[in-house]
This record gives sequence, structure tokens and C-alpha cells, in this order.
Amino acid sequence: MKGIVLAGGSGTRLHPVTRAVSKQLLPVYDKPMIYYPISVLMLAGITDILVISTPVDLPAFQRLLGDGSELGVRFSYAEQQAPNGLAEAFLIGAEHVGDDTAALVLGDNIFHGQNFSTILAHERARLEAEKGCVLFGYPVRDPGRYGVGEADEAGRLLSIEEKPERPRSNRAITGLYFYDNDVLDIARGLTPSARGELEITDVNRAYVARGNARLLDLGRGFAWLDTGTHESLIEASQYVQVLEHRQGVRFACLEEIALVKGWISPEQALALGERQASSGYGAYVVDVATRALSTSS
Ligand code: TTP
Repeated sequence: MKGIVLAGGSGTRLHPVTRAVSKQLLPVYDKPMIYYPISVLMLAGITDILVISTPVDLPAFQRLLGDGSELGVRFSYAEQQAPNGLAEAFLIGAEHVGDDTAALVLGDNIFHGQNFSTILAHERARLEAEKGCVLFGYPVRDPGRYGVGEADEAGRLLSIEEKPERPRSNRAITGLYFYDNDVLDIARGLTPSARGELEITDVNRAYVARGNARLLDLGRGFAWLDTGTHESLIEASQYVQVLEHRQGVRFACLEEIALVKGWISPEQALALGERQASSGYGAYVVDVATRALSTSS
């Protein structure tokens, strides 16, 4: 499965903060926002990841993430000339996906919850066996602000409504999507919506019409956090700070995930930590690597 992180857009709801800096590079407590969606792809076992952003912002993502070899993964980069919609990711990323399946995650989506790795691996394996798409639903108080999915008891997605006045369920469709290779053809066949965008909802509706779209409920034990406004951005930072401080673990720590996945050695992780050891994040990487070294020797 190939990964795509869509990290363009204009971030107008965060102006003036995002006038000169990409939203997805802003800090969510101790790390840049894009670490969170990248961690989701890495937890799903995906090592080949395309980062899409605006022509102006893309070089900053390259400076931050490099080619991924230090983490035992591969990061590549592509420009989206204008915010033409989420589904454009599959036109820009067609070559990257090739004949594989694809996971798309939005660069400003934060997920956190128990057994997420297992859930992702399970859904990925199911998608690879059964084809179709898997969307991830999350219960929200205000479903009318989102794409809302209605599924049957088996999890088969029956309908999607975009920002409905009277939602049929409270399950918002989150910014994480798993697709079989047909997504490339479906995206090629789209026409822009009334607001001039290639809509991911239209892609998802094509799968619903084929009867092979699944909606997996992440449930209330999960956190799916928004970062698009000043309030939600600071709330996301506070959430991360409270949990990390209480538990003594950090989440979306890319070095730790690479280490746990066996993509890098404890020695390599240690070197990555030592390079940034004067930050709490770097010191944590040093700690994790040191513990791994002592158990491996
Ligand atoms: P949005 O939150 O819809 O848009 P935005 O980030 O530009 O913010 P605002 O509404 O404040 O102007 O986008 C969701 C995510 O998808 C976000 O990470 C940006 C990204 N995106 C793209 O990369 N390309 C696009 O064409 C669109 C529409 C969004």
C-alpha cells in the first residue's frame, strides 16, 4: 500500500498565522502537525509516502522530512498548484500509487487511540483481500459540519451526505481513506463540483454505488482532533500535552515508530535523538533508543 499526505490548502481560518507558514508545519504541542498524519501511515506499515503541498510550502516539508532514509522509509514530494480539492491527490499521485492500493490522509488530521496499529493493519489486510474502500467514521456533536456516513450493521457504507441539515447519523467521515487501485480511474473521471473542487466525497460515492465501501467506526474511545481554527489548534496541543505528560510517552514520534517497526536499529534511533536532544522530543527519542539498546544487548 502506498501512502499520500495531502498538506496543501490555504489555511484561511488560521490567518494571519498561515499567511507565511503552512498550516501543517505549525506545532501541535511538541512536533509539527504533519508528524501526526505521517505517524498514522507508518503505524499502518506504509513505508512509501508522497507528501503533496503547495509549490511555495513544499521545500519546507522537504527540509523537515528529507528523503525518509533516516527512518527506514521513503518520502517523495509533489506540488499541488492550487487547492483544487482532495481528490486531486490521486491525479497528482497516480504514478506514486502505480498498481498498488492507496491510503490518503489529510495533513491536518490528528488521530489517537488504543490499538490503532492493529486496527489499521486489519483494515489494510481486508482492503487488499476484498477491494473497495475503507473510510473511518467518528462520532461528533455537530455532524452537519462534515461528510456524514450511514452504514449497515456489517459496516457497509450505504450513503454519504455532505454537510447535511438533518444528518442520518452522527458519524463524521474523517480524513483517512484506504482505497483499492480503482481510485485512480475514479479520480480521473471526476468533474469539479459547484465550488470548483474535485471532491473526495464523489470518489467515495462511486464506491458506495458499487456496494464496496466500508465505514469503520473509530468510536468514542478515540480522539480525532481538528486543527483548522485557532481554538481547535490550541485544544489539540493541550490534548497532546496532557496525555504525554501524564503517561510519559509521546505519540506520533516518528523515530519511535520506525524503531518499533524494525525499520531502524536502536543505534540509528539514538543518533536521531542525540541530534535534537536539547528538546523534550529529542530527549524522549534518546530515552526510547537507550532502552531498546539495553534490551537488545
Ligand atoms: P480544508 O481544511 O478544507 O482547507 P484548508 O486547510 O485550506 O483551510 P481553510 O478552510 O482554513 O482555508 O482542507 C483540509 C486538508 O486538506 C488540509 O490539510 C489542507 C488540505 N487540502 C489540500 O492539500 N488541497 C486541497 O485542494 C484542499 C481543498 C485541501
